[in-house]
Amino acid sequence: MSLEKTQTRTERLLEEDERYIGAANKVRLFRAAAASASGSMITDPDGKRYIDFAGGWAVATTGYSHPVVVDAVSSAMEQLSFSTVASLTHPAAVEFARRILEVVPSAKPVHRKVGFGLSGSDANDGIAKLLPMARKRPKMISFLGGMHGMTGISAGISGHPAMGRFPSSTNVTRVPYPYPYRPAFGSAESCGRDAVRFIEEQILTTVSPPEHTSGILVESIQSDAGVIVPPPDFMPALRALCDKYDFFLVDDEVKVGMGRSGKMWACQLTGTNPEVMIIGKGVASGQSMSCTVAPAEILDVAVAGHAFTTAGTPTACAAAIATLDVVRDERLADNAAAQGELIMNSIREMAARHPLVGEVRGAGLIIGVELVTDQVTKKPATKQCAKLVVRCQQLGLLVHYVGIFGQVIELTPPLVLTRAEAMSGLEIFDQALSDVENGRVSDAELEAVSGW
Ligand SMILES: Cc1ncc(COP(=O)(O)O)c(C=O)c1O
Repeated sequence: MSLEKTQTRTERLLEEDERYIGAANKVRLFRAAAASASGSMITDPDGKRYIDFAGGWAVATTGYSHPVVVDAVSSAMEQLSFSTVASLTHPAAVEFARRILEVVPSAKPVHRKVGFGLSGSDANDGIAKLLPMARKRPKMISFLGGMHGMTGISAGISGHPAMGRFPSSTNVTRVPYPYPYRPAFGSAESCGRDAVRFIEEQILTTVSPPEHTSGILVESIQSDAGVIVPPPDFMPALRALCDKYDFFLVDDEVKVGMGRSGKMWACQLTGTNPEVMIIGKGVASGQSMSCTVAPAEILDVAVAGHAFTTAGTPTACAAAIATLDVVRDERLADNAAAQGELIMNSIREMAARHPLVGEVRGAGLIIGVELVTDQVTKKPATKQCAKLVVRCQQLGLLVHYVGIFGQVIELTPPLVLTRAEAMSGLEIFDQALSDVENGRVSDAELEAVSGW
């Protein structure tokens, strides 16, 4: 009998993945693979089942293989497998554009349009090109920690450490985002107002004069920076600043939109309406799509200035229309609010037994659990955070980590998550926290994952 350990299908797949697929494509926080999935459950090539609290980085809005989405995509594939919006429009593109315009709030009663793309990155890239051009003001303001994408320009307007390695040649000034747990200035309570005052008093008077500034790009909950929920007066104060100086407020809802925050759009948590909204990830339940909703003067400024041959395909548009239907008909924003509250309350309760948990925050099903090695100094528990993600995966729960120090567990499950699935996931999370705290996850376990 051979003494060699037999390789599982998953291990073999991971080995081949390592050989054939480049690392620049990867943010690998655990060693796992998916073979099939349904609802909020993923099955790996060996039949191991996972509860998915990661949702593919918040893409799985309607969960995996929702029958309404599957039907819509299959029919579209049979009827018109492809047509490029760039040169040959089709009914699904026009219908989706009309439908999304109906549900995105607007700061002003102006004629708005939709711009199609394939990813959140290209949508943010586009607004950074078109907004300054249309408004004849070359500069923009964005926030430190912000994640707006990985293409050249979208990386350049981001403020996330993963993007800090690349040269940035954009006309964007990045300013501190109000982070109540770790305020850059002021207090937890005042940091939202302080951030806006900093822009007005320090940035507009120096490197980005109002007459040269076209807009402010913001995440209404900063996600990859660590699921940072700003104080409730921040977004309204930013809105007021934009009104005062005639800036366009550009709200990047790529991760937190489509019902995830418990509202259709996270900006609605504070009643803040933007001029421009960037939408992606879960908008088409995993089919490649992003869209920008903006005044026509922005999206019409450059004919053929931001066109992609495979953007807004009939299958992607069919998936997006079906996603809008499911989010509305199944009241997924309400479900996100209910399950999110259950999850946040449960983790806050278990925190009494887990010294690693510094803070639990979020809205609906965009949840962050910040880990610290010391509750007083708030030293980020970066290594423990990576270990917790690995341990959860070993025990059958998928979660990711984010944060400027890699210290925040991010929970973004499908919005169809049931109470029973939430409870089972929480049980695993509790166990995994104990295992990490009790040193049951070795440093060697981290060597097999690249992180980010
Ligand atoms: C807020 C936000 N905007 C944009 C992006 C980029 O989206 P994509 O990965 O689809 O290019 C991300 C990705 O994490 C994001 O979180």
